[in-house]
Amino acid sequence: MPEWPLIVIILCKQMLIKKAIFPVAGLGTRFLPATKAQPKEMLPVVDKPLIQYAVEEAYAAGVREMIFVTGRHKRAIEDHFDMTYELEVSLEQSGKRELLEVVRSVKPDDMECIYVRQAQALGLGHAVLCGQRLVGDEPFAVLLADDLMIGPSGGQPVLAQMVEQYAEWRASILAVQEVPAEQTRRYGIVAGTAVAERLVDVSQIVEKPAPEQAPSRLGVAGRYILTPGVFHEIASQPRGVGGEIQLTDGIASLLRREKVFAYRYAGRRYDCGSKEGFLQANVELALAHPELGAGFRAFLQSLPL
Ligand code: UTP
Repeated sequence: MPEWPLIVIILCKQMLIKKAIFPVAGLGTRFLPATKAQPKEMLPVVDKPLIQYAVEEAYAAGVREMIFVTGRHKRAIEDHFDMTYELEVSLEQSGKRELLEVVRSVKPDDMECIYVRQAQALGLGHAVLCGQRLVGDEPFAVLLADDLMIGPSGGQPVLAQMVEQYAEWRASILAVQEVPAEQTRRYGIVAGTAVAERLVDVSQIVEKPAPEQAPSRLGVAGRYILTPGVFHEIASQPRGVGGEIQLTDGIASLLRREKVFAYRYAGRRYDCGSKEGFLQANVELALAHPELGAGFRAFLQSLPL
């Protein structure tokens, strides 16, 4: 049993980041036609929608205020985190207690969901800016639900790892991973000086550079802890790559005033905004599923590959 001061330190670390922004207003064009009338964040991996994985990751890191930046066709996300009275009554009356628990656990009582609308999909930076008034003057997390992040087995989820880093450095922390040279055009790429085993003091960040212009191969994944100073920087950005207001450009500006660190997270990332990444996530998570895994493995082995 840990000593009291240790318990207090653990609790304090957990409460450092209380709010998270989930930008879910994108058009999801890479996943058409599936995303024509439903949000890509509601696509299920095995048995849970992508957005629920991201919300659970934030909750496990101590976040209790979930801010969703939504757009048209995103009602399903609000409904998912709302109470489903008829369903709950029906499950209760038919004695399906386990399923009732599954439904109720989607939104724990101490978690708050707030929705703000991004009228036009003007870019990720613009989406984050839409959450400014709700976040106020405190550090916050940003989670892109289409990047499904799975922490190492038996280890901490990725955002919880990042909160630990924030507790130590009290500066913005970007999740990064090594990406193949030919894929730098898909990522924000950072460069800087290593200050610890998994940590880089960032000196430069560029949005979607060509391989020959990329300052490194460290690509930003969809998890950020940002200081509130970033709002001011995003607000003064002109449109960047693709005519969008880029979060990367806001962070590049922030770098001139504050320290920003890149953290090589432990775990796996699936780019579920792409069909290939989404299929990989479904296969790997189904294989690891406690009830489905064995049967699914046998099924895959029976395929004439
Ligand atoms: P993406 O560029 O991956 O999302 O943005 P997208 O635009 O929906 O997808 P494609 O490229 O057309 O297939 C990363 C995240 O930022 C959100 C998206 O919902 C996604 O979670 N986003 C992007 C916004 O909320 N608003 C925007 O204006 C742009």
